[in-house]
Amino acid sequence: MTCIDNDWWKQAVVYQVYPRSFRDSNGDGLGDIRGVTERMDYLHALGIDAIWLSPFYPSPLIDGGYDVADYRNVDPRLGTLDDFDEMVAAAHAAHIKVIVDIVPNHTSTEHTWFKAALAAGPGSPERERYIFRPGRGDAGELPPNGWKSTFGGGAWEAVGDGDWYLHLFAKEQADLNWKHPDVQKDFKHTLRFWSDRGVDGFRVDVAHALAKDLESRPLDAWTDDPEQGVVDGDNPLWDRPEVHDIYRAWRQVFNEYEPPRFAVAEAWVHPDHQWMYASPDELGLVFNFEFSKANWTADSFRLAIEEGLDAAERSGSTTTWVLSNHDLPRHPTRFALPQVPSRVHHQLVNDWLLRDGTTYVEDRALGARRARAALLMELALPGSVYLYQGEELGLFEVADLPWDALEDPQARMTAHGDALKGRDGCRVPLPWRAADPTGAFGFSLPAEHAAPHLPQPAWFADFAADVEEADTHSMLTYYRHALALRARLIAASGSAELTWAPMNGGDAIAYERPLADGRTLTCITNFGIAPVEAPQGELIMASASLEQGALPQDTAAWIAR
Ligand code: GLC
Repeated sequence: MTCIDNDWWKQAVVYQVYPRSFRDSNGDGLGDIRGVTERMDYLHALGIDAIWLSPFYPSPLIDGGYDVADYRNVDPRLGTLDDFDEMVAAAHAAHIKVIVDIVPNHTSTEHTWFKAALAAGPGSPERERYIFRPGRGDAGELPPNGWKSTFGGGAWEAVGDGDWYLHLFAKEQADLNWKHPDVQKDFKHTLRFWSDRGVDGFRVDVAHALAKDLESRPLDAWTDDPEQGVVDGDNPLWDRPEVHDIYRAWRQVFNEYEPPRFAVAEAWVHPDHQWMYASPDELGLVFNFEFSKANWTADSFRLAIEEGLDAAERSGSTTTWVLSNHDLPRHPTRFALPQVPSRVHHQLVNDWLLRDGTTYVEDRALGARRARAALLMELALPGSVYLYQGEELGLFEVADLPWDALEDPQARMTAHGDALKGRDGCRVPLPWRAADPTGAFGFSLPAEHAAPHLPQPAWFADFAADVEEADTHSMLTYYRHALALRARLIAASGSAELTWAPMNGGDAIAYERPLADGRTLTCITNFGIAPVEAPQGELIMASASLEQGALPQDTAAWIAR
């Protein structure tokens, strides 16, 4: 029993809460911690095992809270530490675990350490906690080199005294120097702080960037940006071998607790390198993003599944399956674009979708049909599944947010024209109630309230949770049903075994899994135009009606025998 409890995260269904857009309990237009507590019944009824909260810490909100000013507190706009404790207690009472986001690569420039570094001046010990370097040119007027920030523009910012600091993301997110003992010590403190408050696990932001090597060659020798995804350890910024020392040290902290804590790494690394972050002497899990990158073809998803299973085997852990998160255009929209060439690399599709002026015809019936099929394909796989808030309602990307409403630094840092509109389209506050005279779809308290921090489109009414709860054919009902079956029959088998089924191949993906009742499940998904005959057995669930015993295009089914 203890063993199963300790390993709960290996087969869990985790629901990502983006707190500022989940539910606003005090009417200020921003979602908050109490909003999560108020919706614990909804989360329980959905049938998830855990929630992961994106950052809720004090933050100037330059990057949706991923610019943390104080790692051991709650943003006053989102509540208090007492509210947090109440939320954890409510979650645990509902048998829901709690995972929080740790952002160790950078702090907000509002963090006390950064303010002290600015005040203390060049060469000071305070600056050593970050990555300050003198500029080039007679008066240091040029950056140390031409590296680019992930959000656009240069990766170095001048502070006016000849020094520049490194920021791989927005200039308000200063990269920490992980060689510094204060940095190492402080993050262990943070891990213990939240673990002591009952947090069950962590999600580690940009886990592959912490260790940097800016010493072994002169900075101005870099003429290009170091290419991400290389696996030879030569990259000065990304996926360096020493990063694993950090996580081995964190593992010691996790093991101080009973049950030991775990973490899931956000590491956009080559699939061959994913497993290292997940190994038992490190974090336990790593996001396998191959699933979210896959295009809607059998080959693309089969490869993603194989890579995930391979990474799991090498790590000695399980893998994770992700279709959407707060950084990606919602998957029903990605699947609703028949006009996108099917073999385009996902990054191109994502960038293209998020670009200003991109127009596309969204075939919503197609997107929803494929999203239903994708869910069955995903939920029957061995490992853990990470859902993103609103996907259970079948929300599509909000494509037409006005420029002046956008919050994402990707949007704000690039000029109009060829610019990215950014990631706000999946971060619009959730619709809870269709009929809300205040126009906020029940996101904020019914009384007077400020406008939701991102505008909700009128079509959200059709996707409101109360409408879907009352509709036996809605996406929400479908998610609840599939999650309940997964828990009772698939996850309860305790097995991580998967065998490819004979009908796997061509345009269909089919695999077999042991069920808790001793039977074998076949999960089959047909991507092709030609119908595929379903295997013999009891049809437990299908994403669309079968036609004379065959799966039509874009249909998945669970069959037991
Ligand atoms: C991660 C987060 C993303 C954030 C970035 C910088 O990729 O998921 O939202 O912008 O890190 O912290």
